[in-house]
Amino acid sequence: MNELTVLIGLPGSGKSTYCKNFTPDIIVLSTDGIREEKFGYKFNEDIRATVYHELLDQTIINLQNKRHVVLDTTYLNSEISRNSFLQKMKESVDRVYCKAVVFDIDIDECIRRDSQRQKSRRVGEEVIRNLHKDFCIANSEGLLNEIITI
Ligand SMILES: Nc1ncnc2c1ncn2[C@@H]1O[C@H](COP(=O)(O)OP(=O)(O)OP(=O)(O)O)[C@@H](O)[C@H]1O
Ligand SMILES: [Mg+2]
Repeated sequence: MNELTVLIGLPGSGKSTYCKNFTPDIIVLSTDGIREEKFGYKFNEDIRATVYHELLDQTIINLQNKRHVVLDTTYLNSEISRNSFLQKMKESVDRVYCKAVVFDIDIDECIRRDSQRQKSRRVGEEVIRNLHKDFCIANSEGLLNEIITI
């Protein structure tokens, strides 16, 4: 069984902190990581689509190689983006088990935690409030096999 875990949570909700406890056999992929490691940018909206396609490719390759992949990105908070991504996984990888881990953290707490991060890692209140509008935990039309809330 191929396993894909999607983290759902606002900036500051603790997704990346949660990933720090993983053993090295788990592949954690993030848009931030790809943007920095592959393209050398901390922020760059112009390459958003390119980074997204790279995330898709790397997820598929790792799942096909039977690795457990965890996606640590706010991109998948929106139900439309998440469903589209999960649909592509179901089409590209045999028998993939998709799990969501939801970080149900109050928006004001996310904003507070974000404000305490080092400046280069801060997302800012406006971005968090905008992402909150799209934040959706509904069972993605049967595409998710399991949902855990922490
Ligand atoms: N359970 C927690 N209690 C208190 N503070 C926490 C907790 N989890 C994470 N933090 C702190 O909150 C801040 C944001 O955490 P983290 O970077 O893991 O969020 P994130 O969800 O990955 O955000 P982003 O989407 O912006 O990458 C960090 O400074 C972290 O130390
Ligand atoms: Mg993070």
